[in-house]
Amino acid sequence: MTDKQRQILVTSALPYANGAIHLGHMLEYIQTDIWARFQRAQGHECYFAWADDAHGTPVMLWARAEGKPPEELIDMMNEEHKQDFRDFGISFDNYSSTHSEYNRQIVEHIYRQLDAAGHIERRFIKQLYDEQEGMFLPDRFIRGTCPKCGTPDQYGDSCESCGSTYAPTDLIEPRSAVSGSTPVMRESEHYFFRLADFEALLGDWTTSGALQPEIANKLKEWFTDGLRDWDISRDAPYFGFRIPGTEDKYFYVWVDAPVGYIASFRELCEREGLDFDAWWSPASTAEVYHFIGKDIVYFHTLFWPAMLMGAGFRTPTAVYAHGFLTVDGAKMSKSRGTFIRGRTYLDHLNPDYLRYYFAAKLGPGTGDIDLNLEDFVQRVNSDVVGKVVNIASRCAGFIQRHFGGRLADDLPRPELYADFVSARERIGAEFEERNYQSAIRSIMALADEANRYIDDEKPWQQIKEGGREAEVHGVCSQGINLFRVLITLLAPVLPFTADRAAAFLGTPVDDWQAIDEPLLGAALNTFQPLLTRVDPVKVQAMVEHSKESLQPAAATAEAAVATEVADIEPEITIDDFTRVDLRVARIVTAETVEGADRLLRLTLDIGNATRAVFAGIRSAYQPAELEGRLTVMVANLKPRKMRFGVSEGMVLAAGPGGKDIFLLEPDDGAQPGQRVT
Ligand code: MSP
Ligand code: ZN
Repeated sequence: MTDKQRQILVTSALPYANGAIHLGHMLEYIQTDIWARFQRAQGHECYFAWADDAHGTPVMLWARAEGKPPEELIDMMNEEHKQDFRDFGISFDNYSSTHSEYNRQIVEHIYRQLDAAGHIERRFIKQLYDEQEGMFLPDRFIRGTCPKCGTPDQYGDSCESCGSTYAPTDLIEPRSAVSGSTPVMRESEHYFFRLADFEALLGDWTTSGALQPEIANKLKEWFTDGLRDWDISRDAPYFGFRIPGTEDKYFYVWVDAPVGYIASFRELCEREGLDFDAWWSPASTAEVYHFIGKDIVYFHTLFWPAMLMGAGFRTPTAVYAHGFLTVDGAKMSKSRGTFIRGRTYLDHLNPDYLRYYFAAKLGPGTGDIDLNLEDFVQRVNSDVVGKVVNIASRCAGFIQRHFGGRLADDLPRPELYADFVSARERIGAEFEERNYQSAIRSIMALADEANRYIDDEKPWQQIKEGGREAEVHGVCSQGINLFRVLITLLAPVLPFTADRAAAFLGTPVDDWQAIDEPLLGAALNTFQPLLTRVDPVKVQAMVEHSKESLQPAAATAEAAVATEVADIEPEITIDDFTRVDLRVARIVTAETVEGADRLLRLTLDIGNATRAVFAGIRSAYQPAELEGRLTVMVANLKPRKMRFGVSEGMVLAAGPGGKDIFLLEPDDGAQPGQRVT
């Protein structure tokens, strides 16, 4: 295309460092990557940089539970995430962490600018505090009964049952999800960013074409409601960057997370010798695009541009939000095996399959995207393998066997080739507008045309007739050239397949300009299958491996259930045995634990004391059926800090797991607290 060279930076939202990458994340990262590869194929200077979002309360609690420094955990995750992305063919130029020195410097710089200009305000607020853990509790770490509808065990900010939102202090009988204790009100000084100071500037920016229409509309509502101050500080203990000039205040994770976009790019500039200011100064003529999910629009379209405006940086050219991924029509579910980790997918299937399927479904809007596993198999097999790859495999054999692997010197139908090339402009526009589904439709229509051409010519008959070799050579050379156009247009979507195709064609396929001229008289390399069909058995295996009960033990260290004993353990003495204090216990309460699908939190009465115990028995029991029941517990087990709180013992159960877990139950008449011998 004739556009002059553009300078482009694209980013994806930073995944949290305390969890594995799943296919929902990959929807976004593949969407971004296709766009970045597309831009590079047009000859533009395009970088893709992002990072792990390393800070916040969950990482702090995770480190506590593991008894390890948070740095160690986030480094480990960073490696894992990066490897996942590489294996999905994500062509990032830099992948960093928000816990980096560059990020700290830029965050402090932005904060100082905002503070100096009077945009930061300090005032005291009251918040729920967990005295046992010595920490203020984020809303998500407070549970209690909904003040509106009375449903028990709801989050501190909203009720899953009736949908109402409220302050955590409105909850009936609030409890800390960290320790289980009843939190108290405590006062603390907080730092606020005065968003309203930027109302006019934000109004201009949000109507400048930087947003999708549906997002711009949503923003109008927020503007009408009035822009409220944003609480940007958190008290220690917190894993994050300390606010300059304070002893125990930290930047809220959402302050330094988007700054990670800049810091990661900065790192890239240092490494590659790029001019940072050309991209981020207010005078920059470069383009900056953020790809995000629709759940984090507020942060990216109000707080983030306001921070940039207040601190003397340019604002993003556009923010592009996408919808959520569902699998087989429903929210991803661990029990159904549709909460699929990136790594689990890669263990079973080729990344290009998923990239193709997502592309075929992604449009420019914010609608949700469904990964229907049956449709996935069918679609990839019929389109990519059955149509595109098929063109090459139909023609390659003839060229190899009859023409020494060389393409003809002329095409029999140059105008057909020219038609294909001329579709490039429209298809390019569709990619540019993130209308990948249209682009894919257009490309598949061309693939149909190419197949029709070969069907009509019937080279397999021509070759038998004798004396028609030159025709066959022409037809197959035409077919290979049409294939080359298609794989060039698809290369942003199918990088692995495109690489194999390039090896076969003996020429790169990552430059859209290069197809101006057909390949004539050139030597081809041996044809290797470019992509095999999706095997539905492997899809099924992936789902099975995603079912929670099959996750490796390390991933669910919180599970305290006795699993099947294959062999008898080494002998112990009677003294060893009597050191285990087994007691009859009555289950007073049993509750589910948010974020831990295998666990129940039990409160046990052992006569003169109560114990809170986390047990991995949720797959076998409904909380309600346990309440009031007797069981046996290890009462002198050293308390263990887990991700969700402290576990003060273990209950005894038998069985292989899943539905087959049987909680031991003494006969009626046993009393809570009695010793089991
Ligand atoms: N850490 C924040 C983003 C900070 S950006 C400065 C965050 N992390 S996340 O891990 O929860 O999500 C990362 C991105 O993945 C978000 O854009 C989010 O919308 C997207 N997705 C997470 N689950 C998703 C689906 N099920 N479907 C589609 N996208 C999803 O938010
Ligand atoms: Zn409710």
